[in-house]
Amino acid sequence: MYPERVTLTKLITGVAAAVAVASLVVGIWVGLTRIGWVLGSPPAPGSHGLILVLGFLGTVIGLERAVAIGRPWAWASPLCAAGASAGILLGVSDELVALLLILGGVVLVGIFGAAYRVQPETYILVMGTGAVAWVLAAVTWLMGVSFAALIPWLSAFLVLTIAGERLELARMIATTDAEKRRLVAAITVVVVGSTVAWMAPETGARIAGLGNLLVALWLIRYDIARRTVRLGGITTYMASALLMGYGWLAVSGMLWMVSGLQAWSVAYDAALHTLFLGFVMSMIMAHAPIIIPALTGLSFRYTRALWIPLILLQLTVAMRVIGDIFGLWDLRRWGAMLNALTLALFVAMVIGSVVRGQLERRHGTAAVV
Ligand code: HEM
Repeated sequence: MYPERVTLTKLITGVAAAVAVASLVVGIWVGLTRIGWVLGSPPAPGSHGLILVLGFLGTVIGLERAVAIGRPWAWASPLCAAGASAGILLGVSDELVALLLILGGVVLVGIFGAAYRVQPETYILVMGTGAVAWVLAAVTWLMGVSFAALIPWLSAFLVLTIAGERLELARMIATTDAEKRRLVAAITVVVVGSTVAWMAPETGARIAGLGNLLVALWLIRYDIARRTVRLGGITTYMASALLMGYGWLAVSGMLWMVSGLQAWSVAYDAALHTLFLGFVMSMIMAHAPIIIPALTGLSFRYTRALWIPLILLQLTVAMRVIGDIFGLWDLRRWGAMLNALTLALFVAMVIGSVVRGQLERRHGTAAVV
């Protein structure tokens, strides 16, 4: 028997995934120090949001799409995002980091463009617009405009990518053209708000918040998760994670509308992390059983214990939000620390599930994928 050949794509996936995990760890470490924990001096203290959204999630989403389209050039997207993230960690110039980020985003736009030519579907258009938001976020960061102008584009990248992926699955329940048009209208509000934020950050954030709220309501109303939540096992786990995440997106939309994402507002941290932690991390927990086998070819063993980090995430985000809104600084600080520990628990359990899945495969017993 010959040992398995290490292909170039496997090597790229391994390197990019390692950089993504390092970006997650450093990003959270920076976040903890920014909220008041004394935990040494992490690298890149000013790049918390950028490194988590484009460094960590940009790499993961780029990898997922490169695997899906299967064209060699598509791997440039996760490679550039991972390169940019490594550059931030190593302290290379902002111009080089921005160039890599812009390139990675442009290649992702190209991936969706190529997919749309073969299959002109709304969901590809929605995800493609999300990729354009990535590019605009990188350009905004390079221009050195305020966080208030950058955040709506960072969030639009994630909200549109996730909404597009869910629309892709919603085809299974035959979404009508009128229903799709409602999603496109909601997304247009997100894009208009993010654009306005360049000139008038507060007004732009309020409009983008309305868009996020409309996207959340659309997802709650039409996602297949509402039907599958009662099916039991892994299906109930995934659908519950999705529905809880949509709830956070709706809360976040309202907080953006009320606070206008003003950094001095009591709701600022809550407005950010109901979206980036409550919504986005719930989506990651929901999709992990599908994404991990698709990216790595490894089996993933679902166990009921995965509910523990999912529920802890909801509770600890709620704790932090209450701390933010009522000015209870210890509650906010502890909420943030528990957010971080919950994510660490989830990562440890994912590794455990993959190891168990591999062992079961080796011993010929069935693994849930
Ligand atoms: C335990 C986890 C986290 C902690 C402790 C944390 C902490 C923080 C803090 C303290 C701020 C500044 C808020 C303020 O000035 O009031 C911030 C901003 C931000 N966070 Fe987080 N965060 C965490 C997770 C995340 C995640 C997972 C994401 C993205 C997926 C994210 C994205 C952002 C963004 C985009 C900003 C605004 C831009 C910036 O300040 O860099 N955060 N975070």
